[in-house]
Amino acid sequence: MMNIGVMTSGGDSPGMNAAVRAVVRTGIYHGMNVFGIRHGYQGMIDGDIFRMEAKDVSNIIQRGGTILKTARSKEFMTEAGMQKAYEQLRSHNIDGLVLIGGDGTFRGAVSFFSKYAIPAVGLPGTIDKDLSGTDFTIGFDTAVNTAVSAIDKIRDTAEAHDRVFVIELMGRDAGYIALNSGIACGAEDILIPETETHINDLLDRIEADGRRKKTVQIIVVAEGDDFGGAAEVHAAITARFPALDVRSCVLGHIQRGGSPSYADRVLASRMGHAAVNALREGRTQVMVGIMNGEVVHTPFANVIKGTTPVSSDLIEMIRVLSI
Ligand code: F6P
Repeated sequence: MMNIGVMTSGGDSPGMNAAVRAVVRTGIYHGMNVFGIRHGYQGMIDGDIFRMEAKDVSNIIQRGGTILKTARSKEFMTEAGMQKAYEQLRSHNIDGLVLIGGDGTFRGAVSFFSKYAIPAVGLPGTIDKDLSGTDFTIGFDTAVNTAVSAIDKIRDTAEAHDRVFVIELMGRDAGYIALNSGIACGAEDILIPETETHINDLLDRIEADGRRKKTVQIIVVAEGDDFGGAAEVHAAITARFPALDVRSCVLGHIQRGGSPSYADRVLASRMGHAAVNALREGRTQVMVGIMNGEVVHTPFANVIKGTTPVSSDLIEMIRVLSI
């Protein structure tokens, strides 16, 4: 294998640049030609493919976003789009690919590679951590740290005013960011898609906390919670307690940006290096993950929507620690 392509796709995540750097440099170290593909699958279709040298990835390990740009390509979901992408890869003599992205990226990969035979290895790049086959995804740690720092700030002002604050964090289908940030910030309640939200139970707890004269109540909700996001939870609280001083905040895309944490830089570097080695070993259609400290390879089809059930111990712990 001589010519490998690397792309980032779907929602960006902090540490994608560190992964690109590792792929480019490991490939070049082993005598390969490495090509960047801009804007994910859309760039494949458009032939936005360019040769990368070791120096092209200098000074990016600490940067958020992705120098390769990203996109959620609708055209790639069509037969015609996939055919165009394949033809572009052939015309650039690409004989190996490293795909860095989340759930949507792996769904696209499953359709594409079932039809077109180009060796391909994936890396889990998503803040959501909603993939199986890895303990952590690139960007999750940074996103949680960003959320924790924001919630700590909100707690200061919430406490000053004796307010209830509802904070919505990202996670369309997964509550890992909300769960971990909420625990780390001592949230009174954490609402996530993995567990059914009983709004009346939450309201009862708010009432009980009020009786205990809690001066601040922080409720963290994942955007994909079954009851709704911050707006819906805020409305339910004020409907039952019109006199309560309630505010809400949707943290949004702030969680996707910023300099990656040390943990994400190390994870991305290890995974990028392992992805090229996996291609060299002849592996294909597998995602590189790290589980219990070891590199593991999981078929694309098996990583999609990997949700780990939230243990009842954890739920009980949240209740105990927020009394
Ligand atoms: O990348 C994952 C994610 O940040 C989700 O948590 C969120 O629901 C979604 O992407 C937002 O996507 P977009 O940036 O396209 O609005």
